[in-house]
Formats: sequence, structure tokens, C-alpha cells
Amino acid sequence: TERQQSQYELNTFTTWLLKEEQKGTVDGELAIVLSSIALACKQIASLVTRAGISNLTGLGGLSNSSGEDQKKLDIVSNEVFCNALRNSGKTGVIASEEEDLPVAVEETYSGNYVVVFDPLDGSSNIDAGISTGSIFGIYAPSDECSIDDMDDPEKMMQNCILNVCQPGSSLLAAGYCLYSSSTVFVITVGDGVYGFTYDSIVGEFILSHPDMKVPDKGKIYSFNEGNYGSWAPHLQDYINSLKDASKWDGKPYSSRYIGSLVGDFHRTLLYGGIYGYPGDSKNPTGKLRLLYECAPMSLIVEQAGGLGSTGEGRVLDVCPEKVHQRVPLFIGSKGEVEYLESFYKKA
Ligand code: AHG
Ligand code: MN
Ligand code: MN
Ligand code: MN
Repeated sequence: TERQQSQYELNTFTTWLLKEEQKGTVDGELAIVLSSIALACKQIASLVTRAGISNLTGLGGLSNSSGEDQKKLDIVSNEVFCNALRNSGKTGVIASEEEDLPVAVEETYSGNYVVVFDPLDGSSNIDAGISTGSIFGIYAPSDECSIDDMDDPEKMMQNCILNVCQPGSSLLAAGYCLYSSSTVFVITVGDGVYGFTYDSIVGEFILSHPDMKVPDKGKIYSFNEGNYGSWAPHLQDYINSLKDASKWDGKPYSSRYIGSLVGDFHRTLLYGGIYGYPGDSKNPTGKLRLLYECAPMSLIVEQAGGLGSTGEGRVLDVCPEKVHQRVPLFIGSKGEVEYLESFYKKA
């Protein structure tokens, strides 16, 4: 018989993980990796909140593989994630937006998981104190290219890259942490999507969004329309159709754009609608990176009943050739993404 929940019983991320372990959806070693990621997010949440009074705003002076000037907090958040994953003892390879190449982790005792992450997403918003986030995905190590032959560095690097370049459909877990008016940790281990709100007094993520489902439709679109002029005509037609009140009983769509994928995605997941970062004449594959932005978010949205598309097909079906490969991303309510895809089909 179900024991009556005591009023002093906290549903924390740790207790949720334990229940998933009992259900067999995660094994003990993956649970430890996920706990280490939750710790990294708590640490980044505190760094982000105090950036302006701890000399952590502004540029770090270097640029990353995507050609972006790294903010100080891009570099610090990356270090926080790498430390937490190394200290888990269960991580074999890490790939980060802020690391040119994947890194093999010496401190691995078992588990050997492959973890990909964007340690600070929307970092252009940091100096203005606007929402940012962290995004992560976890793969099983690929058995055909072990990273154990440490003696040949060239071969090991190749194997690290092969371990990391797996399609999103192979992800074991994916999630993000939103650093905003509320710090919310959202995760899927292939068994639905769960959201946990950070209680800084207790220092724990508390279950606040059990079994999240994205509404099938939503009248919010989230695109950087500053790029409208360089979009393909069929995409311009799509955006114009959303603004045409006569098509929508006199009520056109609303536009909301934060400039942080995590913030824009989280609102889309909860309220419905569509987020898009299309390719354009200058950058045909768009701006967002497949491995640690588009694929993890697409697993989450599909687990919540939505869709993650490149415009031509499912993001989760795309196998990365390069660690920092970009793809166009259209993600959110199934009905809304399918409506967008209908314009691509007519193109
Ligand atoms: P990151 O800060 O990790 O480099 O990601 C920024 C991404 C994404 O978070 C956001 O949706 C998008 O860049 C905003 O791009 P624009 O400023 O070009 O709209
Ligand atoms: Mn960046
Ligand atoms: Mn990002
Ligand atoms: Mn980033």
C-alpha cells in the first residue's frame, strides 16, 4: 500500500533519480553522472547570480571553435562542468562548446559515459543579468572505438571524436538548467520530462513539473526576425502567415525572443509555440550546434510530445560529422513545427 507522504517529505532530484534507478531507467553509474551535473548547475547558478559583484562579467579574451568571443563565465562554467564530471569518476569523454576537441577523462574508474554540454547558453545576456542556461546530453560509450588504448594519442583522439559524434536518437539522457527568475533543472532519461525548481535555502532541486507535456499548438513564435532579410522566401512566407490576423480568427501570433535558447525553449515547452533558428544566405546551417544544443533539446521536446526539426527532417536522426557542426532548428509544439515544415515541403 502507498505510504502517506509526510508533509515534511521533499521530492528532490536525488529521490527522483533513486526512483528511476529502482524502475531500471537509469543505472547507478549514470545516476552519479547526473548528480554531478546537477551539482555543476547549482554552482553555475550562484556564479551567474553574482557575476556583477565578483568580476565575472565581460570577455575572457579568447574565442571558441565556433568563432565566438568567450565571456569570462563561458570559461568558468566550462571549468565547473569539467571538474564535476571528472570528479564523478564515471565520465569517459567530454565535449563542450568551449573545448575545441573532445577530452578523454583520466579519472574514469567505470561507467565511461560520454557527456556533451553547452556550459553557458545565451552568454551574451550575462552582462545584462538576463536569463541564461546550461544544456547537456549523455551517451553510452561506443563499444567499437574504445578510448582505452591511451598509448597512441592520435588514435585515442579519433576514438574520442567517434564516441562524441553520435546521433541524438542514441542519447541516454538530456537536460538543461535555466538560470532566470527561477533556477529550473529539466531532464529526461527516456521516461518523460521532469522539472525541478531550485530551493536555495535547502540547496536542493525540488520536483515542481512532473511529466511535462508541450501543448500541441501555441500562438507564440520565437525567431530573431533581424535575420528576416536573409531568410529563404518560403520561410518569409511562413513568418508572414503567422502575422496575418485573417488566418487566425483575427488574433495573430505573438513574438517572444530572449536570445537564450534555454529561456526561449523552456517557455515554449510550458506555453506551447515554436522556436526557430533557421539557416540563412550567410549561414545556411544556422547558428545552433547540433551536438550540445539541438539534439538534447530535441530529445526533451519529443519526450514531451513535441517535435525538433531541421526543417527537412528530425534533428535526432542527424549524425554529427564534426563536434561543433551547426544545424537549423525548429522546435516546440508538434502542430506548430509541422505547420512550418509544410512551407519547406512546398519550397
Ligand atoms: P551560446 O551563448 O551558448 O553561444 O548560445 C547562444 C545561442 C542561443 O542561446 C540563442 O538562442 C542564440 O544564440 C541567439 O542568437 P542571436 O543572438 O543570433 O539571435
Ligand atoms: Mn557561445
Ligand atoms: Mn548555446
Ligand atoms: Mn554557450
